[in-house]
Amino acid sequence: MTKAQNPLDVSGAERARRVQQMFSEIAPRYDLLNHVLSLNIDKRWRKFTVRKLHDVLVRPNAVALDICCGTGDLSLELGRVTRTVGVDFCHPMLVHGLEKVKRSGLPVTLCAGDALRLPFADAEFDAITIAFGLRNVTDVKRGLGEIYRLLKPGGRAAVLEFSQPVIPGFRQAFNWYFNHVLPRIGGWISGSSMAYTYLPSSVQSFPNQKALAEMMRSIGFAKVKYYNLSGGIAALHVGEKQG
Ligand SMILES: C[S@@+](CC[C@H](N)C(=O)[O-])C[C@H]1O[C@@H](n2cnc3c(N)ncnc32)[C@H](O)[C@@H]1O
Repeated sequence: MTKAQNPLDVSGAERARRVQQMFSEIAPRYDLLNHVLSLNIDKRWRKFTVRKLHDVLVRPNAVALDICCGTGDLSLELGRVTRTVGVDFCHPMLVHGLEKVKRSGLPVTLCAGDALRLPFADAEFDAITIAFGLRNVTDVKRGLGEIYRLLKPGGRAAVLEFSQPVIPGFRQAFNWYFNHVLPRIGGWISGSSMAYTYLPSSVQSFPNQKALAEMMRSIGFAKVKYYNLSGGIAALHVGEKQG
């Protein structure tokens, strides 16, 4: 099979197809790389995300949706608190996730679906997350619109994504690591040098903290705020659908 090509070179359906192929290629090593490249900090970011949703997740019969769930790490973290559905359009990522779900015994279901046209009715979920996924969808605004559609009134969404470091000095040092060191280690371990060159480029072209918050407000989300994580390497945006 030919290797995936850079999704950022194209748009629309072809970009989505390349994203899907890229994650299919790195799926076997995805978890290992996440933890190695972030020195396990990604685990803390996912736990923080669940904490910021906790009061919603413990409502009676609450159901959470984790979009772009990949191998299911955030779905499982949510599943410790309440019933959770994880959805992704990359089959090999889901296969790894399903093994983890089976081992965990937690109330988590994983299924296939496209973040831009999800197979659920309006207002079905109390809480919705998307972690390191929104940057990969071909239309960020439409992706947010889909999250808004699926949230119950009074529900809360959380978008966890790489962002722009905010501390001068640290920003330059991190960007050097992200642009020069990470692609080498990522390419070496995963066998896909493109995927880990794509990663910093896709973060560069993704809205920064303020722009993403503004975009969420423009969709209709209320009480939008964001938390810089690890100096802004990542940011967690939360917003609610008014009841
Ligand atoms: C970087 S991984 C993040 C996985 C997981 N959320 C995590 O925190 O590790 C991005 C995931 O988004 C999925 N993805 C990208 N675009 C998608 C789309 N349009 N619909 C569904 N899944 C998508 C990819 O297949 C991949 O599994």
